[in-house]
Amino acid sequence: MKISILNGPNLNKLGTRNPEHYGSNTLQDIEEKLQDTYPDDELVFFQSNREGELVEAVQALVESDVDGLLANFAAYSHSSIAIRDAVELLNIPFVEVHLSNIHAREGFREQTLTGSLADGIITGFESQSYILGMQALRHLVTGQ
Ligand code: DQA
Repeated sequence: MKISILNGPNLNKLGTRNPEHYGSNTLQDIEEKLQDTYPDDELVFFQSNREGELVEAVQALVESDVDGLLANFAAYSHSSIAIRDAVELLNIPFVEVHLSNIHAREGFREQTLTGSLADGIITGFESQSYILGMQALRHLVTGQ
């Protein structure tokens, strides 16, 4: 199974960024843990701080051989109509993840523009959100 894992702005700073919300793992730690947990899957990782690059990364999934999308669009989840419009083009399963519990923080984080297009959202389990998200995505793709 081939899965695209997209991460948005400031997630390249995990490890030192607000560990009370995001835990102490770096993005590299998270990516390695995902690959170790799912050694037979082809995981394609991409992080960007730029909205347009994330739009292009989502567009590249259309009519590709990728089976599913696991994404944390970070702050753009709450604000980017452009990323939402790109996600709308997809016809593969999509699971949205957040490290922190977006419902237990500032009000502006409660709504995600991309979330209503997701098959489901995992929020609040720090780096484990990604593992749970992958589990959910595999379930959607394989039916198991
Ligand atoms: C986040 C939550 C967002 O509100 C925030 O802007 C992030 C990270 C999370 O993973 O908890 O950058 O997506």
